[in-house]
Amino acid sequence: MANIAITGAARGIGFELAKQHTQAGDRVFALVRKPSAALTALAEAFGGTLTVHTMDVSSDASVKAGSAETGGEPIDILYNVAGIVGPIPPELESSDWDAWDEVINIMVKGPLRVLQAFLPRLHAGSKVINLTSQLAASTWPYGGLYAYGAAKAGLNRMMRSVAIDLKARGIVVGLVHPGYVRTEMSGPSAEISPEESAASIRTLTAGWTIEETGEFYKWNGEKHAW
Ligand SMILES: NC(=O)c1ccc[n+]([C@@H]2O[C@H](COP(=O)([O-])OP(=O)(O)OC[C@H]3O[C@@H](n4cnc5c(N)ncnc54)[C@H](OP(=O)(O)O)[C@@H]3O)[C@@H](O)[C@H]2O)c1
Repeated sequence: MANIAITGAARGIGFELAKQHTQAGDRVFALVRKPSAALTALAEAFGGTLTVHTMDVSSDASVKAGSAETGGEPIDILYNVAGIVGPIPPELESSDWDAWDEVINIMVKGPLRVLQAFLPRLHAGSKVINLTSQLAASTWPYGGLYAYGAAKAGLNRMMRSVAIDLKARGIVVGLVHPGYVRTEMSGPSAEISPEESAASIRTLTAGWTIEETGEFYKWNGEKHAW
């Protein structure tokens, strides 16, 4: 049994990771802005092995309070999942800078904030798995979604540095593109189910070694180009 902390666990890929880890017998701390009915039902069904804690990753106070509420047990896997798309309209002429700030706060500062809050409970062998995107890659051709792509590229660069800084402690840091997944974020015409994405991410995470810390993978185990 492993202790697992997951941000953005109310729905989408985060919920599916919470469900599969709970079903596998792990102790899951589901960190959410607001619990969904599905997550509440899962917590009730598993009587204490999955607990739900309020955590808005954009807020220092919320991250500190939410992590403290989970107690002091070691954390074996921390999944930084919470994310938003941010501004979608064409931005060549103008941008909504408040919306940009929110994207950067949630998807760049958020994962670091959460990592810092749990750091005293991470140990040699712990894994911090960050859900990024193929849109972070300079090699992936697409137009638009400037804030989202910039944030995920920033997350990748930052976590690569964090991986170097944590390597001596034996803490693995990973970056995963979860696939194009049928969640609220990508819609029903996306390519793979949240179940498939989460199952593949779990397999990838289980095999992630310290030698591979700071690497960028696709959900299916292929290395992702930067
Ligand atoms: N789906 C894809 O095709 C795809 C592709 C590449 C990368 N990703 C990445 O994978 C991750 C999960 O995406 P998804 O498809 O599962 O998205 P989703 O279904 O839209 O779920 C996003 C989750 O993040 C949570 N969240 C947003 N802002 C938050 C905040 N400030 N604090 C805490 N939680 C917050 C949401 O909580 P609420 O329920 O409170 O809104 C929701 O639970 C994201 O980082 C996303 O960028 C997804």
